[in-house]
Parts: sequence; structure tokens; C-alpha cells
Amino acid sequence: MKTQTNKEKNQQWTAIILAAGKGTRMKSPLPKVLHPVAGVPMLHYVVNACKKAGVSEIRLVLGHGLNLVKAVSEPWGAQTFIQAQQLGTADAVNSANPTNIEGNVLILNGDHPLIESTDISQFMDEFEDSGLDIGVVTAKLKNPREFGRIIRHKGQLAAIVEAKDASSETLKINEVNTGIYLVKADVLADCLPKISNHNSKKEFYLTDMISIGISEQLKVGAILGNKKVAAGVNNQAELARATRLIFQRKALELMEDGVLMIQPLSTCIEATVEVAAGAVIYPNVFLRGKTKIGSFSVVEPGCYIVDSQIGESAQIKAYSHLEKSVVDHRASVGPFARLRPETHIGEEAHVGNFVEMKKTKFGKKSKAGHLSYLGDAEVGEDVNIGCGTITCNYAVDKKKYKTKIGNHVFVGSDTQFIAPVSIGDHAVIGSGSTITKDVPESALAVARGRQFIKENYVKPIASDMAQHKHSSENELSGIQKKDEV
Ligand code: UD1
Ligand code: MG
Repeated sequence: MKTQTNKEKNQQWTAIILAAGKGTRMKSPLPKVLHPVAGVPMLHYVVNACKKAGVSEIRLVLGHGLNLVKAVSEPWGAQTFIQAQQLGTADAVNSANPTNIEGNVLILNGDHPLIESTDISQFMDEFEDSGLDIGVVTAKLKNPREFGRIIRHKGQLAAIVEAKDASSETLKINEVNTGIYLVKADVLADCLPKISNHNSKKEFYLTDMISIGISEQLKVGAILGNKKVAAGVNNQAELARATRLIFQRKALELMEDGVLMIQPLSTCIEATVEVAAGAVIYPNVFLRGKTKIGSFSVVEPGCYIVDSQIGESAQIKAYSHLEKSVVDHRASVGPFARLRPETHIGEEAHVGNFVEMKKTKFGKKSKAGHLSYLGDAEVGEDVNIGCGTITCNYAVDKKKYKTKIGNHVFVGSDTQFIAPVSIGDHAVIGSGSTITKDVPESALAVARGRQFIKENYVKPIASDMAQHKHSSENELSGIQKKDEV
């Protein structure tokens, strides 16, 4: 159930998220706001944070890569607005049709993925409590680089000056504009038409709203935020940094919940992943999507697990790759195992090194210890799959066929099952067999050439004979000598 926030109780908030910019410095064909941060498009973080903070409506301003961004963001429940030409941040806000908004407006950039709902709630509370007409969220940075600088007179907010338009003295100011604004809807609608593009970039700067508000005797103030809310992503290095921080956040969360992490900073665990208390995560583990890891399970180094459920006390040994699979309690997988989609490993089953499975149900306590491929297979309980076993599921007609193996079957090494084929309970398959026909319950099936022996098949050549004779004599004399001693 969604918890009711202060915002829902007090005033109505609409968020306008600016996401029309080109993102030139990303040097990537993908629209900037769709670049994934820890597996999630960066715009999604901003949308989610707004929703969780209790914003009642979200308006996205899109422009560059419009169709793609629209398609991706559609399920998030935000309205989209188009900014035909990127004429600046004030023009972007204007594109979101602010004249038909009631209550308060929260304006944010779509490229600030580190923002959290708690930050937004705090800003909204401060705005409401101090009775501001216009608020800008500021942050103090050691290296303020390209950020707009906050100008204060006698401690009071006076203006925002863009770095490009700033004097060398102004550039020394380390309080910056984070690009987050809170403003009464009617004030916003009144201010926007008054903003001009008389600046070095010939853009309509939203920052001008501050000086306009002050000149009109409105209550304009700064709300101090933390550094993280100022962190925009403008290039690949900043994207990688944001990703690292989000993964770090997740690792800390998991440790707080009792997960044992041997080297938390090396792990990449997406926000959607659930890891139970008591599980152990080794270094360099990548866990994605809907993955769940049960308590006391161990995920060894180098494992990559996507949308998979791992039960309790299971072991996923080093360098295993799992995708859309289920591993039940106390089973062990790997090292170097690959479980492809729709694979289910039963309780206490064992899948060893260099074993690949696809769309396979592998029963309780069954074992496939080494070097095997099982695809489109159903393997019962307590089955032994010998080393080098293959289910030949793909036929010349380009269709896939099933192999069914009952309970307690013993499959000798280097067996091929030519699907479709079915093996009864308790059957035994001789090593090296190519099984093309069904095998009944409790039967032995051997399908390989018989071994035959032809003695003296290799004829020794004359020089070898002489050599052989000489060395035999030496061996003989050695024995005799030893015997004499
Ligand atoms: C802006 C602020 C600056 C602040 C910084 C914080 C202005 C003039 N400057 O600068 O004071 O320190 O953010 O990150 O507002 N966008 C549009 N349409 C446009 C232009 C921009 O949608 O026409 C969007 C961009 O996609 C981006 C956001 O607005 O999400 C900010 O634009 P950007 O060009 O990155 O502004 P900055 O130069 O970073
Ligand atoms: Mg920016």
C-alpha cells in the first residue's frame, strides 16, 4: 500500500521533468535520458523519485529522440509534452503547458539519476513551511565547473548566473544551482513569458525566473540540498560514476539487511534484486532484474545472474551464467556452468563444470557433474548424467525435440540422446551410447560398436626387433645381477 505523504495531505504537486536536450557530450546515438544507470534508464530514477515523494502528476518534456523516449517511458504513467526546438530550459518548461496546472510545480532535470524521493520530500516540505513563491535547490560543491552560480546579497538569494556568462569573481562562488526548482503554479505561468534570451547562448534560461521573482517582490529563496542531487550526467564518465554510486547504494542496503558481502564495491546488483539475510556474495558478482537469492546461499566470484530465483543454502560456484532459471534449496551449480532460460534445478541437485542446460527440468538430487548439454529435457530425481552427455534436441527439420529421463536412471559417460526419446525409471545406459529408441523401465541399453581385439595387429619392423632384443637382454642381465646380490 502506498504510504500517504505530507504532500498528499497538504498541497498538490505537479512535476515537470526536462528531458528534451540532445546530450551531445554523451557522443552516443541513444537519447541521453535513456542511458542505463545500473540497468535502469536514468530518466526512470527521476520519475520514480517524484512518484514516491507523492507528486500527483508528472509531465515529461521530450524533444531529442522523442519517439524512443516516449515508447520507453509510456509504462511509467507520465504525460509527455514535446519541445519542438531546444531553445532553453525556460522554453522547455513552457512546452509542458504550465498554465493549466494548479497547486505547486516541481521542476527537475531528467539527467540527475541520483536524486531520491526523500530528497524531493524534504524540498517540498521546506518550500511549503517557508511559504516561498519560488524556490531553487542549491548545493555547495568543491569544484562547481559549469554549474550556474548562486548570487547572494547580504545572504539573501539575488540571482543565478550561468558559468558561461559569469565573471571570474562570480566563478569563484561554490554554491550552485542544482537545476531543481519549486514554484507556485500561478507564479510560474506569470514569470515564464517575461524571460528573454538575451545571453551568451541565446537561450531562454529558467534561471532568470529568480531575478524576475525578486524584482516583483515575490518570496524567492534557496533550499540547500546535498551534492548528490546536483550530480547531472553529461558524459560517459559521469554515467559510469552514477552507475557505481547506485550499485554502491544497493550494496550498502543489502549489508544493512544482513547480507554478507566480501567486496561490496566490486558487486553490481540492480535495485530490483532481492537477497535474503545470511546470503554470501563474493566479489565481482552481477545480479540483475528479478533475481532473488535465498538465505545462506553463496554466490561465488564472477557469476552473472539474470531474472533467476535461487533457493536457500544453494551454491552458485564461480563464473556461472544463469538466465531466467530456478535453482532450488541446497542445489549446487558450477563452477563454469550455464543455465539458459526455463531451466529448473531441483533440491540438492548438482550441476558441475562446463554443463549447459536449456529449458530443462532437472530433478531433485540428480547430478550432471561435467561437460554436458541438456536441452529441452526432463530429468527425474536421483539421476546420474555421466560426463559428456548430450541431448540432441535440434533436428534437421530445424525443430526442437524433447528427451525424457525417468527417476533413478544411470546414464554412462559420453551418451547422446537423439530426441524425441524417453527413458524409463531405473534404466541404465551404457557409456558411449547413441540412444535413438525409447528405453523401458529398469532396462540396460547399450548402443555402441562392440569392442573386438585383433592380437598382433601391429607387425614389428626388423630394426625395432633388434632393438627390442637388445634391451630385453639388458633388462634380463640387470635382474640377474640384482638376484646375484
Ligand atoms: C542548467 C542550469 C544551470 C544548472 C544546471 C544544473 C539553465 C540555464 N542552467 O544548466 O544553472 O547549474 O542546469 O544541472 O537552466 N533541456 C530541455 N530543453 C532545452 C534545454 C535543456 O529539455 O531546450 C533539458 C536538458 O535535457 C536537461 C536539462 O534541461 O535535462 C538541463 O539542460 P542543460 O542544457 O543540461 O543545462 P545546463 O547547462 O546543465
Ligand atoms: Mg545538464
